[in-house]
Amino acid sequence: MKITSAKFVGGVTGTSDLLSNGTPQVAFIGRSNVGKSSVINALTGVKDLARTSSFPGRTQQINIFLINDALYLLDLPGYGYAKMSHVERERLQKLIFWYLFQSPYTPKAVVLIIDAKVGPTEDDLETIKSLEEHGKRIIVAANKIDKIKEAVYEARLAELQAQIGKHIIIPCSAEKKIGIQELIDAVLK
Ligand code: GTP
Ligand code: MG
Repeated sequence: MKITSAKFVGGVTGTSDLLSNGTPQVAFIGRSNVGKSSVINALTGVKDLARTSSFPGRTQQINIFLINDALYLLDLPGYGYAKMSHVERERLQKLIFWYLFQSPYTPKAVVLIIDAKVGPTEDDLETIKSLEEHGKRIIVAANKIDKIKEAVYEARLAELQAQIGKHIIIPCSAEKKIGIQELIDAVLK
């Protein structure tokens, strides 16, 4: 399947009519700076749709993108950015957890983006556990796969799979446009 149109429809920090109008949702979550916004841009083929930055903590609200006039991609803030003030970090963490576990919204899938080189952090593994407990459909995207040398590629993927468990892992690179169609297929399914 293809993504033929993508547009930004708004940013929210709590309940919103935008999120309760029946449009199915796919949420993109993960550590700060792992490339959530970049992956959304790569998926939609629109370079500056979601704002990206080399500084962690760029995305501060839940940004909503409508694709194919039929599905929302939600760009969430990142978690675990140590240099942010405690208050700010708490606020973003609360927003992420509210959306995933307390809000009236139930995304049809949650795409957890990890850094292929760093691997899943404690925060990532805890998030996966909570998502499992809440019965969410999880897709793990191992982004920045361009940083992994060809010679160790297969071994690295096997390692990641062992850490992640049963969930599907899609290796990808927003920067080099690797694995993007595979991720689109998983998201649109
Ligand atoms: P927050 O909104 O702060 O949580 O960050 P984010 O997860 O949305 O990350 P963002 O998309 O802003 O990208 C963070 C940095 O990673 C930027 O400097 C990107 O250029 C870089 N980046 C994103 N994807 C890739 C990739 O596939 N490969 C490499 N090498 N760099 C990437
Ligand atoms: Mg972002």
